[in-house]
Amino acid sequence: MFHQKMPDAVPLTPDLVVDGVSVSADKVPIVRDLSFKATAGEVLAIIGPSGSGKTTLMRAMTGEMAYRGTISLGGPEVRGLAPEVLACVRGVLPQASQISFPLNVSEVVGLGLIDGQRDRQARKRRIAEALGRVGLSGFEGRTYQDLSGGEQQRVQLARVLCQVWEPLDPVGAPRWLFLDEPVSSLDIKHQYQIMRLARDYAINGGGVVAVLHDLNLTAAFADRVLVMRDGEGLAFGLRDEVMRPELLSVTYDFPLECLAVAGARPVIVPAEDKA
Ligand SMILES: Nc1ncnc2c1ncn2[C@@H]1O[C@H](COP(=O)(O)OP(=O)(O)OP(=O)(O)O)[C@@H](O)[C@H]1O
Ligand SMILES: [Mg+2]
Repeated sequence: MFHQKMPDAVPLTPDLVVDGVSVSADKVPIVRDLSFKATAGEVLAIIGPSGSGKTTLMRAMTGEMAYRGTISLGGPEVRGLAPEVLACVRGVLPQASQISFPLNVSEVVGLGLIDGQRDRQARKRRIAEALGRVGLSGFEGRTYQDLSGGEQQRVQLARVLCQVWEPLDPVGAPRWLFLDEPVSSLDIKHQYQIMRLARDYAINGGGVVAVLHDLNLTAAFADRVLVMRDGEGLAFGLRDEVMRPELLSVTYDFPLECLAVAGARPVIVPAEDKA
């Protein structure tokens, strides 16, 4: 049984609160005056066109970029949290992860095991379990660089899972998964496998914030949706309030419609493809 090392500052609420947040990169304003609240136990999807500021917002929320305004994760302000505290509270899957050292898969996943005191056999078991969850059982000895793009993406997710394995810490405060396009390199089976894994993390009490481009995966797995465009929040709310073709057509400047199939969830398609 693993015991995650306790941070000094224990989160006090199950919420991620973003209030009046602006983020600039090299003095260029990227995200402007954004406010919303995510709650542990739910999956929040962030959608919007390429370049709309999703990754920039994500990096501010995870403490990797300076911001103006307030971002509190479980109570404390993110900018005031020490890196070792942040590491216990949230795991981050970046949009792109590059590793230039010749590490094997087990070593990459093991980077997520932040408590160095764990015994070797327990570490091995946890790494194997994490790889199993992402559909890569038996990949421990493979060289990371030799894997396909989709395999590398799942290894990175296994690393993040190891970091924040239990969705709740020992006093019952939620941990958070921040996933920037977690399924962008995956086939449809693995897209669903990874999104189910994210949903289960939320069902078990953790918080999940995922940047997604696939509107139908968003409609299938998100509880709440934030829509970004040009660095601003265009809409935020419950999935069914937000995932409307009219709103999405404006968001992407591209005509979209809902295709209703009896007995199935409506799917969002380009208007030109509708029969
Ligand atoms: N350091 C920087 N200097 C100037 N502009 C930047 C910098 N970093 C990001 N940007 C710009 O900010 C905008 C938002 O970038 P961001 O990566 O947040 O977009 P995104 O919504 O994640 O896009 P995608 O869906 O393509 O990943 C882009 O136009 C990008 O070129
Ligand atoms: Mg991005």
